[in-house]
Amino acid sequence: MTDGRYGEDLFEPGHPEEAERIDAGALVYDPVTTRRLRALGTGPGSRCLEVGAGTGTVARWLLEEAGAAEVVALDRETAGLAALAEPRLRVVTADLTDESLRLGSFDLIHARFVLMHLPERRRLVARLAQWLNPGGWLVLGDALEVPDALDVASAYRRVMDAMWQALRTTIGTDTSSVPAYPHFLREEGLRNVAAELVCPPLVAGSPLARFWSETWNRMRPALEETGRVDASVIDEALDYLASPRLAELGPGMVLAWGRRG
Ligand SMILES: C[S@@+](CC[C@H](N)C(=O)[O-])C[C@H]1O[C@@H](n2cnc3c(N)ncnc32)[C@H](O)[C@@H]1O
Repeated sequence: MTDGRYGEDLFEPGHPEEAERIDAGALVYDPVTTRRLRALGTGPGSRCLEVGAGTGTVARWLLEEAGAAEVVALDRETAGLAALAEPRLRVVTADLTDESLRLGSFDLIHARFVLMHLPERRRLVARLAQWLNPGGWLVLGDALEVPDALDVASAYRRVMDAMWQALRTTIGTDTSSVPAYPHFLREEGLRNVAAELVCPPLVAGSPLARFWSETWNRMRPALEETGRVDASVIDEALDYLASPRLAELGPGMVLAWGRRG
């Protein structure tokens, strides 16, 4: 296991472009997430926990659009969330892995692009499931790529592979258990378990292309340290991402959900 942590060894919250990078991802995935949360009945009166709230776009949606009674927005770094705090939106600065954390119980717990970065993810799924009220939903969203097995040499492929490897070795990110999330939810005794995979279109100039180019740029030293790519391959992949030649099934998001009986 690696000793590195999200926010310390990669994606430091103080970096001037970090909020912009997270917002680019949120622009793409918020419609997918909120459509699912709506379909699961998230609505007026609910008490919600938004785990790893990032820039707070989902927490705000829960409050303003879904009419939640209370939203707890938890993140280990909350400088960018503080301005959102109001009586019904409580910002909690805490590490999800902190065993002493006590937040009460919830009708909805949502964690997007957080557990994949935390090596303790299986234990954390159990913990989050324990914090559900009867009838409450746990909704997990994490990345999954369906790579083109026929492409082993393009700059895009090589940089993507280097990225997953670098994320794993520096901070312990691992998406290999994302397809197992429905099983994890069942093992925790949750019912009505289901999952979907959504791969939004990867189009040059789109927020999703911006998200990946920003991520690769931020990770340049770590990408090169894998020994899989050098600066010129990274530049080639970045040019491709911004060009009309771009033609890829981009990484998607698995959403998995289950309900406490
Ligand atoms: C990739 S961002 C995703 C942000 C947001 N969920 C979204 O999808 O837009 C991951 C977030 O999880 C937070 N995070 C990472 N490790 C955490 C931990 N151990 N405890 C609490 N938050 C954590 C980071 O600070 C960051 O805001």
